[in-house]
Amino acid sequence: MTDGERDRLVAEMTLEEKLGLVRGHADPAGRATGALPGVERLGVPPLRLVDGPMGVRDGRATAFPATLALGASWDPALARRVGAALGAEARAKGHHVVLGPGLNVIRVPTCGRNFEYPSEDPRLTAAVAAASVAGIRSAGAAATAKHFVANNQERQRDGVSVVVDERTLRELYLPGFRAAVAAGAEAVMTAYNRVRGRWMSEHTELVEGVLREEWGFDGCVVSDWWGTHDTRAAVEGGLDLEMPGVSPLELYAPRSHLLRALVGLRPSERAGIDPPVLWRAYDALVGDEGQPDLYPAAYFGDRLRRAVASGAVAEAAVDRKVERVLGLYDALGLLDGAGKPSGGSAGESPTVDADAHHDLAREAAVRGTVLLDNDGLLPLSGAESLAVVGPNADAAKVGGGGSSAVTPARTVSPLAALRERASGVTFERGVARVAEPSLFDPPWAGTVRRLRGATTDADPDAAVAAAADADVAVVVVQDGATEGEDRDSLALPGDQDALVAAVAAANDRTVVVCRSSGPVRMPWLDDVAAVVATWYPGQADGAALADVLYGADPGGRLPVTFGRRFADYPVAGDRRYPGVDGHVHYDEGVFVGYRGFDRVGVDPLFPFGHGRSYAAFACGDASATPADDGWRLDVPVANDADRAGREVVQVYVSPPDGPVERPARTLGGFASVELAAGERERVSVSVPRRAFARYDSREGWTVDPGEYDLLVARSSRDVRERMSVTAE
Ligand code: BGC
Repeated sequence: MTDGERDRLVAEMTLEEKLGLVRGHADPAGRATGALPGVERLGVPPLRLVDGPMGVRDGRATAFPATLALGASWDPALARRVGAALGAEARAKGHHVVLGPGLNVIRVPTCGRNFEYPSEDPRLTAAVAAASVAGIRSAGAAATAKHFVANNQERQRDGVSVVVDERTLRELYLPGFRAAVAAGAEAVMTAYNRVRGRWMSEHTELVEGVLREEWGFDGCVVSDWWGTHDTRAAVEGGLDLEMPGVSPLELYAPRSHLLRALVGLRPSERAGIDPPVLWRAYDALVGDEGQPDLYPAAYFGDRLRRAVASGAVAEAAVDRKVERVLGLYDALGLLDGAGKPSGGSAGESPTVDADAHHDLAREAAVRGTVLLDNDGLLPLSGAESLAVVGPNADAAKVGGGGSSAVTPARTVSPLAALRERASGVTFERGVARVAEPSLFDPPWAGTVRRLRGATTDADPDAAVAAAADADVAVVVVQDGATEGEDRDSLALPGDQDALVAAVAAANDRTVVVCRSSGPVRMPWLDDVAAVVATWYPGQADGAALADVLYGADPGGRLPVTFGRRFADYPVAGDRRYPGVDGHVHYDEGVFVGYRGFDRVGVDPLFPFGHGRSYAAFACGDASATPADDGWRLDVPVANDADRAGREVVQVYVSPPDGPVERPARTLGGFASVELAAGERERVSVSVPRRAFARYDSREGWTVDPGEYDLLVARSSRDVRERMSVTAE
């Protein structure tokens, strides 16, 4: 549809119809996360939006590995395939817009949503996010880049104001969004937090200025759920679509007879109570700090109608928003029948090959697994007897809590998969189950979980005895992160560290499998034979784990730095995290993650980019040639082992001394390659000019002339080759 046709369509709409397109409504089927009713009279069909980054949150769906695992694969092509599968499942269930990818930079190592994001590095984040967007779109669904921007902690996420300088915003937190927009994301979701005092749902400077004017984004800006605060400010700030636009009662009513009856009875109306009064009371009673206030449900509802009537908001401003929402429709091919009362079609709903998607989830989980340490015990041969130990080893770690949680189509637990592969398996939980918290838990859920934990069948002595009797002990540990709150510390929850230590003391051949939302402390590291990090591996968890333990080369490299303690991270200190008096100060500037560790010379437990392979790689003399936009490196890589493996060639850029302090090295480019036994290949890595640049608040992106070192590396701390190039 041309712009002119879209304008004409808007011109035919009544104000009421337009208002219906700028705020969400309850999905009559109760399945979408957010929905628009459309305008039947004009052939604009209903639109359905659905969470989220790791699978479709509507009934049973494939639970793919965490976004962080995709980051750990360092393989955008894989992220694209997962995005395509996710998009296809969304479409098959009748949804149009996927509320993902999540692409906030991992600033705080304990942030509760880190598993939904790719990395602490902006370049890796951008590459994975752009590929996810491309994949989702290739399936005929629309992608939503979220959460724009600087939503880097869950603690007080709905109130905190981020104090961040322009350079830091540009160099670290914005590039992922820029890449997602360049990849064609049709929507961008504003974050709950404020930046420099302004709510992101009303941030004229960043939404109208950067997103739209600078980057040319013409898509739809949608609020996070109940993340709006003021009608006029949101209108002027560039928000197009308010979500969910209804109260939780109305949102969830279609799913429950009881709620439907309640909504139908309209008890508040009958009693003469304004619903917002009820919501305020609800927030006061059960609202928690990680959740937005649910009052009031809609700033783009009655309030917007009144603002237009009083002239406080021009109807033309509403028209502009409607045009953008229709642009989203149009991108999806939903306006083909528009203008005719018969209506646009909701599109064909393709069927999904559940087996193929399960296999993809398994492949992605293998590729995202990082072999952190291995004294030669792995891979196992299959002849060993195993003691499988761990509080939740008999369940797949499907994902984390909150809006990204998927009801998996099927699951494979570590225990079930290892039972199929090993010659004999015993299982002991060892310690009480780790709770799987959820944002949507009712207030009494914590008590229920504690009671369940107390009545668990865990027996540490039995776990130690089982480990002593087996050839190999596999201890599966995990955290339990969720949207809405941050982890308390880097330590594994409960008594898991003590369990690992006790098992390791009983059996030298102990493998630790760490399923976590980010870095964790490993006080037992020196006492175990091998450690693999599988993040939240999704529904194929156990199958992928068995693949790796029995010889599939794990392709992963760390997308985040594993520090020894929280105090070693550049965000340590209350001002920086969680913030003081409602303000979180990004005082570390551009020195987040490995950049911060390098700056102060602190050794991490495992550096960014680290990951072992079962194969053995050597890289020969690399060469750099100028390319259209930056440099291209040719890196000869040889797999000297007698087995296939994956190598991730990483290139870091080290700038010359210049007018401002810069990180000693930043990731400039990378390539993930699979090499057969004995194979050699010239791997090509592009390092764009932007990787040499810094952001200057007056000059914009600036490349200081001089000699830059390009470091060919196996991690941020394992440099294999260094060459110099001159930039001007
Ligand atoms: C989350 C979003 C999500 C939305 C809808 C919010 O709590 O921050 O990421 O898409 O809910 O479920």
